[in-house]
Amino acid sequence: MASEKMLQLLNDQFNRELYSVNLYLSMASYCLSEDLDGFANFYRVQAQEETFHAMKQFDYIHQVEGKVTMQALSQPPAEFSGLTDLFEKTIAHEKEVSRSINELVQQALSESDFATHTFLQWFITEQVEEESTMHTLLKKLKMIGDNQSALYLMNEELGRRTFTAPAA
Ligand code: FEO
Repeated sequence: MASEKMLQLLNDQFNRELYSVNLYLSMASYCLSEDLDGFANFYRVQAQEETFHAMKQFDYIHQVEGKVTMQALSQPPAEFSGLTDLFEKTIAHEKEVSRSINELVQQALSESDFATHTFLQWFITEQVEEESTMHTLLKKLKMIGDNQSALYLMNEELGRRTFTAPAA
């Protein structure tokens, strides 16, 4: 069984992942409103990934005899000044998620809670991948600049993204 403090932090993280779901659905909606269906698909799949993260934490909290408490979530931004702004905000958000996962790891280590520490390793790796993906896409966008043909191709490419549950 995890400590009360550890369970509280895990519960906070679970709710943070749910905020991520809402944020990425809001971004998907913005992309649709800009007629960028491929980018919208990318963020829609991202929201599915965040749901997977949340449910992985939901299951772990119950495995270690805790209970999930749903929290009120703040409203995500709905308007963006363009795709660069969108990806910059995505990167900022993922950095914040990485920081909070690191806090959980520190707490697990300080309590010698090696089970939770092991559980969190998956999220450490996942955050590296997520931040890297978003940085790559932002760099591509900057390369594209005002080139509408290149933007069309990137939109097509992102439209092919599908959700596959990450390896456990
Ligand atoms: Fe669940 Fe994008 O981190």
